[in-house]
Amino acid sequence: MLATRLAHSLATVLKALAAIFFLLLLVFSYDRLHGASSSQVLSNRLQLNGNLAAADFPPELNRFWINFADSLVKARPVCPEIRIDHAPPNDAETRFEPDNHNKQRVDFLKLSAEDRKAVKDSHAFMVKQALHQAPDLFYSRTTKGIVTTAGPRYMPILLVSLRMLRRSGSELPVEVFLGSWDEYNSTICEGIFPSLGASCRVLDGIYSKAPSIAKPERFQFKILAILFSSFEDVLFLDADAFPGNKPDDLFLTEPYSSYGLVTWPDIFGNTASPLYFQIASIAEPPVSLRLSSESGQLLLSKSKHAADLLLMTYYNYYGPDYYYPLLCQGSHGAGDKETFIHAAMALDRPFWDVRERPWVLGHWKNGQFCLVAMAQHHPGDDWKIQKGLNESSDPTTARPLFVHNHFHKLDPKTIIREDGPTRDVDGNYQRMWGPKKTVLDRFGHDVEQEVWEEILASGCEAGTDTCSKIKDYYNSMYPDGNSNEVI
Ligand SMILES: *[C@@H]1O[C@H](CO)[C@@H](O)[C@H](O)[C@H]1NC(C)=O
Ligand SMILES: *[C@@H]1O[C@H](CO)[C@@H](O)[C@H](O)[C@H]1NC(C)=O
Repeated sequence: MLATRLAHSLATVLKALAAIFFLLLLVFSYDRLHGASSSQVLSNRLQLNGNLAAADFPPELNRFWINFADSLVKARPVCPEIRIDHAPPNDAETRFEPDNHNKQRVDFLKLSAEDRKAVKDSHAFMVKQALHQAPDLFYSRTTKGIVTTAGPRYMPILLVSLRMLRRSGSELPVEVFLGSWDEYNSTICEGIFPSLGASCRVLDGIYSKAPSIAKPERFQFKILAILFSSFEDVLFLDADAFPGNKPDDLFLTEPYSSYGLVTWPDIFGNTASPLYFQIASIAEPPVSLRLSSESGQLLLSKSKHAADLLLMTYYNYYGPDYYYPLLCQGSHGAGDKETFIHAAMALDRPFWDVRERPWVLGHWKNGQFCLVAMAQHHPGDDWKIQKGLNESSDPTTARPLFVHNHFHKLDPKTIIREDGPTRDVDGNYQRMWGPKKTVLDRFGHDVEQEVWEEILASGCEAGTDTCSKIKDYYNSMYPDGNSNEVI
């Protein structure tokens, strides 16, 4: 009895030893093949830990991308590129008129019947591929986080936005996508970002693994960052956008919890071509239905919207040559903005497009309104109001939530200028976003003063030569301001 048991244990130990030996052999021969000893590899890896991680993507995602990129390349429309050779529509044509149900859709893009069929056939092929490959999209289940993109020029602006995000109390992790290693800055990626709960991801670490895929252009980075981010639930924020209040609950509440895709409106009407709807084989919605989209912020669930995310990627991959002109004939907002809801519509997926119009932040100068930024509203408030579910304790109008500084970037190096938004017509200091009372009433606190505290801290920490100018502006505008922040 005892002997059998001993023999049994011995066999188990031997099996384990054999397995370990086999593993060691594998590691050793791998390193031999790659011309390095395992200790060398290990020390390189330790040294470059930060770097390597930034371009490391899970093997499942790499495999998915190589397959999907192959479909993207195959789905190129077999016809010449679409170019708009027409003057942009005028203000009356792009004005949003929700009560004018007879308003005509802008319609001047022309395609021959043959080209239309070519674009439509490729679209149908891509829809099939997207539905087929969506289950293979890899991400970390049940994770939530913020995704953004930033080239070197946008870093100082992003740092201010990240400080505002943390100031809002948000605990969401942030993934910042850089185009390539050329844009990698170890001071920022390994020093400043980790202290702000952000990490660098190098897009090229996965993107270029697919053979014959074209280099991405400016507008295409956003969708790729969302696609390659590790999160299941994504809040995309442009580098120049930040929340005025903590956004973390957006993922847990309506409308996101039911729809899984939430978009915000721009101030213009939708100018997608009627041809787009023919190509996608879907009904053409009246232009009085919704505003065009503004994509400074976006919520997307990969578990609910994987297939349309892939179609969005297709619309952006062929954006400059086909889908940007098809989805936007106007000069306002050509680019990725319209690709999100239209891909969802093409696959008949639900989405919540916030109806509350953006609040334009700015001031008057010489009888003209100077637009500085745009505030976008709380989708939960918007949802309650639209559904008629608001209770007496709720606000009767949606509260602002995000600020998108698309017009005047809050770069500490350049924001204080003689002709900038910090000066009135006589050259005196002024607030950028209009009266303090309005900002206080609508956000619940003075987000403008707070953003100046962060510009000041960020600008002076970075040792910019505008530090003293920012201090001067802040101290004269906010003499009773937070004395801890201003010396
Ligand atoms: C990296 O960022 C730091 C901090 O903003 C900056 O001082 C430095 O010049 C940057 N380095 C490069 C190589 O761009
Ligand atoms: C709900 O919102 C609507 C639209 O803003 C408003 O007219 C109504 O007074 C609100 N109801 C309550 C009970 O606050």
